[in-house]
Amino acid sequence: MAETTVDDAFVEFERVQKSYDGETLVVKDLNLKMPRGEFLTMLGPSGSGKTTCLMMLAGFETATHGDIRLGGTSINNIPPHKRGIGMVFQNYALFPHMTIAENLSFPLEVRKMGKSEREQKVQRALDMVEMGSFGGRRPAQLSGGQQQRVALARALVFEPELVLMDEPLGALDKQLREKMQFEITDLAHRLGITTVYVTHDQTEALTMSDRVAVFDDGRIQQLAAPDQLYEEPENSFVAQFIGENNTLEGTVKEINNGLALVELDDGELIDCKPINVSQPGERTRVSIRPERIEYNKDRLREGVHTLKAEVLEFIYMGDIFRTRLRVAGKDEFIIKTRNAPDQQRLQPGQQIEIGWLPEDCRALDA
Ligand SMILES: Nc1ncnc2c1ncn2[C@@H]1O[C@H](COP(=O)(O)OP(=O)(O)OP(=O)(O)O)[C@@H](O)[C@H]1O
Ligand SMILES: [Mg+2]
Repeated sequence: MAETTVDDAFVEFERVQKSYDGETLVVKDLNLKMPRGEFLTMLGPSGSGKTTCLMMLAGFETATHGDIRLGGTSINNIPPHKRGIGMVFQNYALFPHMTIAENLSFPLEVRKMGKSEREQKVQRALDMVEMGSFGGRRPAQLSGGQQQRVALARALVFEPELVLMDEPLGALDKQLREKMQFEITDLAHRLGITTVYVTHDQTEALTMSDRVAVFDDGRIQQLAAPDQLYEEPENSFVAQFIGENNTLEGTVKEINNGLALVELDDGELIDCKPINVSQPGERTRVSIRPERIEYNKDRLREGVHTLKAEVLEFIYMGDIFRTRLRVAGKDEFIIKTRNAPDQQRLQPGQQIEIGWLPEDCRALDA
């Protein structure tokens, strides 16, 4: 998915910028192409510009610069209700004075649909989210999760090609959230709906999406499939933001045959894959995942550089061991080791040597 060049993009942002006050850009240069049927998540810290992007796509905000296209047509001058977009927001805002069925019927009435067809579609949408027998109730008579399902049904009832969801599960408990995550992606895929989903929960983003756009500071830092984001972060922001990660700082000594030799600040040498570095002398932040680190010598490839480490904490977690180490002067170096019969358990105070495959270690921006 990540490698596809999206030629006939359904949703397209081209060089989009947004400023609310005419001075600061909260969206700096957004370029994004989504094929029809894709489930894309915008993930990023608070204030990074996710909702603003969604609002521009929905038509509630206009871009300060650039172009937004839907099905190849620029939508900058099309008002929100003519864009045919279904929306679910965190404060679902069902109309409190209407029944559930009336809530769902409303977007169809707006579209001038006849009564019997309306009733049919409303029932089908409610059945889809397993709320078929709740049509006569009012929103206040439903639980939070049920209201959320109704909001989802209302966004889908007029069969939009595009659905936007902004933190739709934020208010729900963990169990219901996980159930709804599955229901949403299942529905979207079954109905072939193109979805833009916003969250700051990385697990949610990784489990639900075809692709994830990681936002920071008004820019997409990386746009890729979940596994690629985790395995091949393109910069240190993404490496830190997605999953657990260890970092060490150093200076590039040499780059040869696609491998960088990095001298850490305490003088030790490690091998890594050069991602954002190209010259000796450059500063770098080296990134490595906890589960890619070995301390069992038999499992290390010959010739790779190893590092000295002191065990600070060893936690037995059943399927894995989680160990905190002091490495190169840092106390927060985490390794995760699969619990296997030949895997040694460690003791606090113990001195060990750790290593990894150079390709699992990425030399990123400093
Ligand atoms: N209506 C507005 N007027 C002025 N500034 C705004 C407005 N809406 C958002 N901003 C600012 O724009 C920036 C991006 O906000 P946005 O709501 O897009 O972030 P977000 O990524 O959705 O954050 P969160 O995860 O907290 O919802 C923030 O600095 C915010 O303060
Ligand atoms: Mg937001």
